[in-house]
This record gives sequence, structure tokens and C-alpha cells, in this order.
Amino acid sequence: MPDLHFTSAQPTDEERSAIDAFLDAEIPRRDLLLPALHAVNDRIGWISGGALNLVSERLNVAPAEAYGVATFYAMFSMKPQPPKVIHVCDDIACQTSGADALCAELERSCGKAGTPSKDGSFTWLRSPCLGLCERAPAALVIEAGPVASGRAIAPMNAGDIAGLAQGAAIGSASRNGASRPNIGGGPFKLLARVGKVDPEDIDEYRANGGFAALRRALEIGPAGVVREVVASKLLGRGGAAFPTGRKMDAVAKESVRPHYLVCNADESEPGTFKDRVVMENDPFAVIEAMTIAALGGGCDHGFIYIRGEYPLAATRLKNAIDQSRARGFLGENILGRGMNFDIEIRRGAGAYICGEETALFNSIEGKRGEPRNKPPFPAQSGVFGKPTLANNVETLVCLPLIIHEGGDAFARIGIENSTGPKLFCLSGCVEKPGVYEVPFGTTLGELIEMGGGVRGGKKLRTVLMGGAAGSFVAPDKLSMPLTFEATRTAGTTLGSGVVMVFDDSIDLGHTLHRIAAFFHDESCGQCVPCRVGTVRQEEALARIAATPSDKRAVDVDLLADIGRVMRDASICGLGQTAAGAIDSALKLGLL
Ligand code: SF4
Ligand code: FES
Repeated sequence: MPDLHFTSAQPTDEERSAIDAFLDAEIPRRDLLLPALHAVNDRIGWISGGALNLVSERLNVAPAEAYGVATFYAMFSMKPQPPKVIHVCDDIACQTSGADALCAELERSCGKAGTPSKDGSFTWLRSPCLGLCERAPAALVIEAGPVASGRAIAPMNAGDIAGLAQGAAIGSASRNGASRPNIGGGPFKLLARVGKVDPEDIDEYRANGGFAALRRALEIGPAGVVREVVASKLLGRGGAAFPTGRKMDAVAKESVRPHYLVCNADESEPGTFKDRVVMENDPFAVIEAMTIAALGGGCDHGFIYIRGEYPLAATRLKNAIDQSRARGFLGENILGRGMNFDIEIRRGAGAYICGEETALFNSIEGKRGEPRNKPPFPAQSGVFGKPTLANNVETLVCLPLIIHEGGDAFARIGIENSTGPKLFCLSGCVEKPGVYEVPFGTTLGELIEMGGGVRGGKKLRTVLMGGAAGSFVAPDKLSMPLTFEATRTAGTTLGSGVVMVFDDSIDLGHTLHRIAAFFHDESCGQCVPCRVGTVRQEEALARIAATPSDKRAVDVDLLADIGRVMRDASICGLGQTAAGAIDSALKLGLL
């Protein structure tokens, strides 16, 4: 037994039953800590000291460590709270669609964020981006109980709030998470089935081309898969733009076993929602893509790490895994070709930093989601210290297309070093926000035009590229081709594909302050430049907002200094990019 420090708190019968149902007959496994905490939180709505004691005992984890994990994730509460929690997004895209006014109305009619409603049935909380930006302003209702549920209410409106105040159920079915996705652009290759095929039916998936690529991959074998992916020149779509084929090849060549495959579905960058649209509407494609990737990388087991704010996507992926396994597309001896591979879903619990791959590995292992130093790189030492192939959802769903059409054909879409189709998340002050599939090389202006242009015919002030970790660009960049190279040359980034439009009525000082507060909240606190720098950055922006423009020089200089230190001395991408958007806004004179 590890270091104990158990308290005398005992679990209630209901907590014990939730833990027993999940951990019954399990061998103590530290990596089950996060799922076990979810089991309690899902049933009760919060995690008591007694429940934590029992989970720690069953998993042979020191309670102090379990407490450190439980308190790391924003969606777990260690204090009593009502079973229903309404997470209301007040992040930057929702701000452009009235989120602040909605939150003010909620305060007036239902009390301050975090306080129980009059009848004790619910509470509401402000939330960072929920990945529903195309339907801003958005909310997510999570309800604990014997059958826990989660559903999106997007867009949320004043009527919902009035109903809440009177004790009515929130939102109508037509606006919940299952509504038709907004997609645009084309020709559709990655989104071809989205909105057209029943995402819960494997037969419809198969009738629309599903699993043909996996059959082909099994015919050409692991070396053939790697060869086609290298030929496609596919670069990772999660933000780092690393060559996918090289990564796959590096994992395949590792002699240490087992190899793991991780699908990074912890899409948390403010303004990003494309992976959710794919997972909710074409979940079998994610499973097929992962199986192809596993074949190429020689991976024995896969994890999908999905953000806790995506309950519908998690449900549909689970259904897709179950059906695929039942039909021989997953599990032992896949399609009779001797390949063994299976997939587990791991739910995140509200920590942006877990999108960083090494933080994600720690989270899967049942630890706090704190990034690791690199090297070693995941190809050599990833989850459980084993060779790991980690790709995000959009990167993975390019694989069936590559195998089906051939790597060379994929490389002919787009331009020389930015190949293939690309998904963009268009949001903010635009007429038709949504996921747009376009070939690389489409210009920024063309994309915004596809989205119907600036909402209400207003004047374009700026565009945020790449999300909170990206940068603002001026309207003179509308002719910029959306490619890795052109955005780099223009001093910005494609990042995770965020294109957020701001018209000239938006208070950008408020937007910047929200970005700074986001990084302050989401810093894991492990290294000083980021832990302190994100706080100082937020404070300086608050002072600037309250100071006449001719008296801001000291704080503007301070922001530049803080940004430099965070960029140079932080362990991971969060700290290295936390000042990027603010720095770009200052340079463009947006304040
Ligand atoms: S840069 Fe920030 S988020 Fe990254 S490890 Fe350091 S403190 Fe954590
Ligand atoms: S859902 Fe609100 S900013 Fe993304």
C-alpha cells in the first residue's frame, strides 16, 4: 500500500455502488484512476472525500495523489454541487454572439455562477470554449445520475434562461447536440458522409465506402501503408504540422513492444470544433482510420482521448467501436488477416493542456495532465513509456482517403508542401459559421466569402488565425493563401484551423483579456515562466484596459517582455504561445 493519509471519510452507499460497478474485479490499475473518478462524478455530480478514499484503496493509489489528479480537472468537483451543471461558454467566439449578456442575465435570474439554483436542482458555471462555436453562444448541460447525460444547448437564448429560472427543462430538442452540422466548401472528401449517413449504423457506413480502405491497407500491408502516407506528404493537422508518414515509420521501426496508437480528440483550442463534427457525424471513419494507422505503426492497442465536453461524440464513438468489433473490423484477427488491434475510449475532464500529447499520455496513465520534457519523443517513449503513434482526428481521417486514392493522388490536392483537403473552423462575426472543407491554397478572403462574409454587412476589423494560441491578422491579409508556408511567411499560423472573424463593433480589449484569462486558468503551473507569466499578462491587460492610450507604454513593454520569457523558457507549447495573439494584436494596434 502506498503512502496513505486516508481520512476517516466513508463513501455513501451510492458512491460505493458507482465505484463497485466500475472497478469490480479489476486488478488495481493506476490508469483507471481518471475513469473511476468519472464513474463517481457521473453518478453523484461531485467527488467526496469518502469516494476518493475508496477509489484510492481499490487502485492502490495514495489518496494525496488521487486528490492531486481529481483537482487538476475542471469538470470534477470536490465540493458538493447539484447533479445538473450548466456550463455556459463565455469564450471569444461566443462573446461575439452575446455570451456576456447571457451570463449577466443568468446571474440576475439564477444567481451567481457556481451557486445552487433556488430548488437546488442545478448550478451554472462559466466555461472556456465548448467546441460549439459555430452555434454560439453555447452551453452544455451535464447531468449526473444512474444514467449520466450531457447535451449541448446551442445557440442558447434568453428563453432558455427564463425557463431555467422557473424550473423548466432547458432547451428544445431541435437545438441540442444532435442538430445538423453546418458544413461548407467542397468538393467533400473528408466530410463526404457528414450529415448524409446515419452515424450510428455500420451498414450505412459500409454502403457509403466505409472500410474499403482498411481492406486495401490489409492487402498492401504495413510497409505499403507507410509508403502511401509518406507519398501523400500529409502533415499533422493538430497544429505542429509534422510529417505523418515519418512519425508512423519511426514507431513502426521501434523494436520495443507493445506499440500504442493514440487518437488525440482533446480538441480544446478556443474556436476549434472540426474534430467534434467528424466524430459526431462520421465516427466509423475515425475507427477505420485508427485501424489503418495501427497497421502502419505496428500498434497493438489504441486509445481515443476525447475531451469531456463532447458527450455525444463519445457515445457515437463507443457505438462505432462496439459495432466494428462485432463485425470483425476491430479486435482479434481483423477481417481474417491476422491483425489484432482494439480501441479504448478515455474521457478528458476539462483540461486544455491535455491536448499536448505528453500531458495526454500522463492523463491516460492516471496522472495529472502535466506535459513531459522532450526528448524522449513519443515514437520512442510515449504512453506507459512505450513507442506511441499520436495523431489528431483530422490527421487520422485523411488516412482512408490516402489509402483509397493513393498517396500520390492525395499529394496532388492542395499545393506542393501543403497537401490534401483541409478542414477550417469558421466562426465569430460571419454569416454562416461552420466547418469548411477546402483544398490548401484557398485564400482567407475566399473562405470568409464562402461563409457568407462578415455578419450583417459590417466592416471586417481583424481575423484570429489558429485560435487563442495563434495570432490576429489585418484585413490586408485576405489574399493570403491558407497554406502552412504562406501563413508562416505572413507571420501567422494555421494552427488547428481556426478562422475567427471580428467586425469593427467588437471590443477587442475584452477579447484579449479573455484570451489572457484562458491561459492563466489553463497553465498547468509546472514551470515558472508560464505559471507566473500568464498571471502577469492578464494583470497588465486589465491595467491597459483601464488606462488612457497615451499612458500604456510601461505595460505594453512589460507584455512584450513577459511574452519573450514565456516563449523562450516554457516547457511546452502552451507557455510558448500564450502571448502570441496578444503580441500580434498590439502590433496591429487593435487595442
Ligand atoms: S508551459 Fe505552462 S502548461 Fe506547459 S508545462 Fe509549463 S506551466 Fe505547464
Ligand atoms: S463554444 Fe464558445 S467560444 Fe467555442
